[in-house]
Amino acid sequence: MLKIKNLRCSVQRAVHTRQLAYEGYGNPPEAIQLKSINIGDKPAADQVFVKWIAAPINPADLNQIQGVYPVKPTLPAVGGNEGFGKVISVGSNVKSVKEGDHVIPNKSGLGTWRELGLHSETDVFLIDNELPLEYAAVFQVNPPTAYRMLKDFIHLKKGDTVVQNGANSAVGKQVIQICRILGIKSVNVVRNRDNLEDLVKELKDLGADDVITQEELYGRKKKFPGVKLALNCVGGRSSLFLASLLDHGGCMVTYGGMSKQPVDCPTGPLIFKDISLRGFWMSRWYDIQKTPEKRQEMYKELAEWMKSGEMKKQAFVNNRLEDHARAIEDAQNKHEKKQLFLLD
Ligand SMILES: NC(=O)c1ccc[n+]([C@@H]2O[C@H](COP(=O)([O-])OP(=O)(O)OC[C@H]3O[C@@H](n4cnc5c(N)ncnc54)[C@H](OP(=O)(O)O)[C@@H]3O)[C@@H](O)[C@H]2O)c1
Repeated sequence: MLKIKNLRCSVQRAVHTRQLAYEGYGNPPEAIQLKSINIGDKPAADQVFVKWIAAPINPADLNQIQGVYPVKPTLPAVGGNEGFGKVISVGSNVKSVKEGDHVIPNKSGLGTWRELGLHSETDVFLIDNELPLEYAAVFQVNPPTAYRMLKDFIHLKKGDTVVQNGANSAVGKQVIQICRILGIKSVNVVRNRDNLEDLVKELKDLGADDVITQEELYGRKKKFPGVKLALNCVGGRSSLFLASLLDHGGCMVTYGGMSKQPVDCPTGPLIFKDISLRGFWMSRWYDIQKTPEKRQEMYKELAEWMKSGEMKKQAFVNNRLEDHARAIEDAQNKHEKKQLFLLD
């Protein structure tokens, strides 16, 4: 809801908006504060005025507030790197978006946990207006991460096998679905839990060919021939055994470090199977694109899979900005459902 207060100037008005900001690095639930500020409602020539609609809490957002993420916005900063909004108005020089368009941040560090924002045109990127909220709010990071890791490291053919740990993570679930769509088999490693059967069913319903626990991975009881690609979200012992599953010339791509342990790699497969270890960071991929075409092409394919229902909507815990302390605490400690701020 907008509370609008007239200023002396007849053109520019001050618009009241709320945002979750941090003044210094620290433990996220304590560092983040809900602030009310006034901003102008008229974009400058190269600016867009955005009504933010929904934004998730991702592990990277928490790392950023802790001060341990490579993208460090100038402090004080607004939290949140992902989300989507609707363009309310644009400045006279803006060409890439127009009123009514849906946009996401162009790159990390914009600060999406806010109701309204005046941003430079180059800070936002157009997405498909018809994408439902559950897809649009988390369109920028996890689906493209899964997509690029499956496309950019190993030439995968139908019937090839990919293994991954952290398979029930948001990224992991996107990997399972894209593998299914592309005809690639996925072997998925998760941590054991009381309701393991429910989780196995959920992942198999998304298209997982195999789901095994970390303990089964360490026990080496199951064999998976012809593994070309391993996606490592965890590190430590888990990455050691994941890399052991790779076939000759296979590649392990590390994209997360959820165990907070260094990536371990088995010596034998490095020498005798010439496996390779790579890393992937979506933010860097966005940074090195010189033109928007490759990004647009990826977004088009992902949006089509989402709108056709081939990729399922993610389940969220919905929060208002005033629920920030509990929402951020839960994002740190519970991983079953992603926490989402509804900003509308
Ligand atoms: N490189 C990139 O561009 C990029 C892009 C997106 C995400 N990421 C990274 O990918 C990771 C996952 O992100 P997300 O948003 O998908 O996370 P998420 O949905 O919150 O899921 C977190 C996952 O980590 C697992 N996990 C947590 N602590 C663990 C531990 N000690 N040992 C093993 N597994 C553990 C959880 O398993 P349980 O259910 O068993 O707790 C869950 O599967 C994060 O590190 C994130 O920063 C990187």
